[in-house]
Amino acid sequence: MELFVWSDALSVGNEFIDRDHQQLIALINTFHDAVSQQRDREAIETSLDRLIDYTREHFAREEAAMQRIGYDDYPLHKQEHDVLIRDAVELKDIFTSGMAALSIKVSTFLKDWLLTHIMQTDRLLAQAIARTAN
Ligand SMILES: [Fe+2]
Repeated sequence: MELFVWSDALSVGNEFIDRDHQQLIALINTFHDAVSQQRDREAIETSLDRLIDYTREHFAREEAAMQRIGYDDYPLHKQEHDVLIRDAVELKDIFTSGMAALSIKVSTFLKDWLLTHIMQTDRLLAQAIARTAN
């Protein structure tokens, strides 16, 4: 069962950000599935690596957009990204070191974090991008 389902309520009103978020949600679900189906350690690690890599790419795209429009809230938004990446890598290290039981916590944490970040921080960015487009 999918942990995290995309809905229009999650749209921030910007096409590239929404597309990236849909992909992130798909990767969180893939990771969650690997964990809940108790797939082998390698499959779980691979899906977590993919998720972290894609998150980095997505954040880089958002940060480039912020710099392009001279976004005032760039430092704060960037800081949220940095914290998430740091936490995700930390959780991955814990997982790798053998505490696989944490995996469900990892996917729930990522889901909650992304949800809050999308609904608040990214929504403000999408509005700022829309304003400069006019
Ligand atoms: Fe963001």
